[in-house]
Amino acid sequence: MDSGFDLSFRHHHLLGIEGLQPYEIGHVLDLADSYVELNRQPSKKRALLDGLTQINLFFEVSTRTLTSFELAGKRLGADVVNMAVQGSSIKKGETLIDTAMTLNAMQPDVLVVRHQESGAVQLLARHVRCAVINAGDGSHEHPTQALLDALTIRRRKGRLEGLTVAICGDLRHSRVARSNILLLLAMGASVRLIGPPTLLPRAFESYGCQLFTDMAKGLRGCDIVMMLRLQNERMQGSFVPSVREYFHLYGLTQEKLRHAAPDALIMHPGPMNRGVEIDGVIADDIDRSAILDQVEMGVAVRMACLDLLTRSIRGEAS
Ligand code: CP
Repeated sequence: MDSGFDLSFRHHHLLGIEGLQPYEIGHVLDLADSYVELNRQPSKKRALLDGLTQINLFFEVSTRTLTSFELAGKRLGADVVNMAVQGSSIKKGETLIDTAMTLNAMQPDVLVVRHQESGAVQLLARHVRCAVINAGDGSHEHPTQALLDALTIRRRKGRLEGLTVAICGDLRHSRVARSNILLLLAMGASVRLIGPPTLLPRAFESYGCQLFTDMAKGLRGCDIVMMLRLQNERMQGSFVPSVREYFHLYGLTQEKLRHAAPDALIMHPGPMNRGVEIDGVIADDIDRSAILDQVEMGVAVRMACLDLLTRSIRGEAS
């Protein structure tokens, strides 16, 4: 053990949930809890990252992740730059690695990256000195989404261990699902995956998940119902016969929700397609739906990640 540093979070990058230990996940969530309280104060600013530079490099569109990373960095006092790929030299043919090395030469302290290819963020991280946070890579991982989902669940249910979580919909293309599966299993929850056979890779069984193609059976008694968007942008060919049939079989309605526990929490990472994977009335049910809580927790979790990953630069223990 290095003197002056504890073992709470000793990573230079946050590239995925894979590789994080349960105590590290717990440490991020505990710290994020304190940022939830800060974010509810009229004055939300801290000078923790004063003098540090954060670049948000998003090759794919985003509302929640990009905005919350920008807010998180600014609330902690960093200089935050959002790099718009549309207006960049990537459009002139510059490669991902050349872009990364160019940005690295400007001495950023944190690079937050979203990319459409699985593995691209890991590749980029090998070519820069600063901390890299994966803000979603292809259908691989979206670690801060899983962390904010875990924080939402923990605050609403008081724990993660022992809960039964159903993740429903397009599991084949979902980086949110993969990161959530890894995190929830690591923290002692049971995970059920529900979807049409075309969108439900059997490989997830080897992770320790239970697979269902029938919503009524999969939802039975579960504590958390996490709905996923059909990721049409990642589909080559047709995976569902029609949106109408998909909603009929897999869309979350009051009728299907009756199979879950009476106090089951409804979640969705967004963006949400009402009438496709979820009935709008359920999404807006303030007693059952935690969808806007998830958005709030996103800012706090990203503040915690920025705080932890910059501690070695700031000479603080993690
Ligand atoms: N959940 C999520 O990643 O949303 P955005 O695509 O809006 O960032």
